[in-house]
Amino acid sequence: MMNILKNLPKRERNLMTDPLWYRTAVFYEVMVRAFHDSDGDGIGDLRGLIKRLDYLAWLGVDALWLPPIYPSPLRDGGYDVADYRAIDPRYGTMADFEELIAEVHKRGMRITIDLVMNHSSDQHPWFQASRTDPDGPYGDYYVWSDTDQKWANARIIFTDHETSNWAWDSVREQFYWHRFYHHQPDLNFENPKVQQEMMDIARFWLEKGIDGFRLDAVPYLFEDDSNGGENDPRTHEYLRRFRAMVDAEFPGRVLLAEANQPPEEAAAYFGTEEEPECHLCFHFPVMPRIFYSIKAQDATKLREILHATPVPPAKGQWSTFLRNHDELTLEMVTDQERRQMFEWYAPHPQMKANVGIRRRLAPLLDNSRHAMELAHALILSLPGTPCLYYGDEIGMGDNVWLPDRDGVRTPMQWTPDRNAGFSRADPGALNLPVVQSLLHHYNGVNVESSLMQPTSLLFWLRRFLTSRAQHPAFADGGYADVPSSESSVFSFLRTHPEESVLVAMNFSTNQCSTLLDLPDFAGRTVKTIVSNTPFQDVGDDGKLRLTFGPHSFYWLVIAHD
Ligand code: NOJ
Repeated sequence: MMNILKNLPKRERNLMTDPLWYRTAVFYEVMVRAFHDSDGDGIGDLRGLIKRLDYLAWLGVDALWLPPIYPSPLRDGGYDVADYRAIDPRYGTMADFEELIAEVHKRGMRITIDLVMNHSSDQHPWFQASRTDPDGPYGDYYVWSDTDQKWANARIIFTDHETSNWAWDSVREQFYWHRFYHHQPDLNFENPKVQQEMMDIARFWLEKGIDGFRLDAVPYLFEDDSNGGENDPRTHEYLRRFRAMVDAEFPGRVLLAEANQPPEEAAAYFGTEEEPECHLCFHFPVMPRIFYSIKAQDATKLREILHATPVPPAKGQWSTFLRNHDELTLEMVTDQERRQMFEWYAPHPQMKANVGIRRRLAPLLDNSRHAMELAHALILSLPGTPCLYYGDEIGMGDNVWLPDRDGVRTPMQWTPDRNAGFSRADPGALNLPVVQSLLHHYNGVNVESSLMQPTSLLFWLRRFLTSRAQHPAFADGGYADVPSSESSVFSFLRTHPEESVLVAMNFSTNQCSTLLDLPDFAGRTVKTIVSNTPFQDVGDDGKLRLTFGPHSFYWLVIAHD
């Protein structure tokens, strides 16, 4: 396996010199504890990730996003932080982390980590001090109350596990506020010391050389009655100050907002050009509509949400994604859409979690190669910085029998060998079992096998990532909807001064044909992007006829000369 990786061609792109690197980058979410275990204890670690960087560079990944690697009781996958300034020893040491940063940068790639601002673990010393010593220095670090009736209109996020956003603390004899698990008390951002702590924690990691943060659960920093505890103006005001600090002290580093909100509210996390907040915001409004449109075989919902989505300020950019380490959240779709999506995508109760679906991309799309290509081509060509999820590049499956969201966090499948090449440990000692389902068994679904097969999804994705990097219209181009007579066909232009890219996709499982109207491009030459071969030119009447197979799509480049 390692020999195969050694022979892979070297990466040509270097994002280290580009201050706007996050606009052209493709991100990859990699869970350290699930990627590669270098010391055989059954848990993935930082040195394991270092060993696999050549694979990621070969694939065409430009930037990594590491979910929390801080010491944690791991009752919420590490989003329950017990110490913000250390590395959990199960993943390695601070020296390993520093080496990881250097190795990532050496390959011309970037590295970002999660910053869990909103809450800590109840095991964090701040919380322990806060509950035992209300008048002490940490007494006001969390959101305490004598009543659990305040902010009653704030929704419950972890509906499978929690019935209230308040929990009783028998030591302090008060309630504390928690938007997530009861063991994750919210930090009190009204306390200036907490605001300062988070800035200093950010500085601590930025000084180590990381390239930015994914800001976890960012809409919930400040609570207020008027807005269900979300998107409070004081949260935005704090983020503006946070960004100003990053720009002044660490130019070129980026903030990526996790704000699962409707379009206008999500877009507010960009701030404005004059007063920016985050460089990137995950495109939560569009993600569930991709899945909806594919199963509905109709692009209408996707067109509608893109139409309703504000264009980010000049340097801001959406981040498109299909899956991540959480459930496929359905909080932001209508009741009718949610019912429909549960019916389509979660036929078994085990597949649901909270208000969402805890499955990976390949099983969601019935393991259809065409549908997986279509979905990937979509997030790679819509405006935005794509973020891939580890394992989806080989069509990894999930394990819906594991609790919570663990089913989509199983070990990366590298080879058909013991523990899928993830670890040398006794199989029983693995952090989570490797996937052994009939369809997705690691015997067949793994990187080594994918590398043996030039037609694999892995090679397909690499080719598309390479092509994407060669056409600046994908990263920087404008977006214009191109209407189609077929409701199953979704087509749009990415316009750029040098060339325009035409994307057209058939969401139907049937063949179809459509005539696109491209009046500005009458008579222009058209080429296919990935193979760079001539296609039919746009007619002198500005029309282009396209014929599609089931779930097929076109990536075409229209010359401007
Ligand atoms: C969002 C994270 O993605 C999720 O995994 C976590 O459970 C919540 N935030 C709470 O931190």
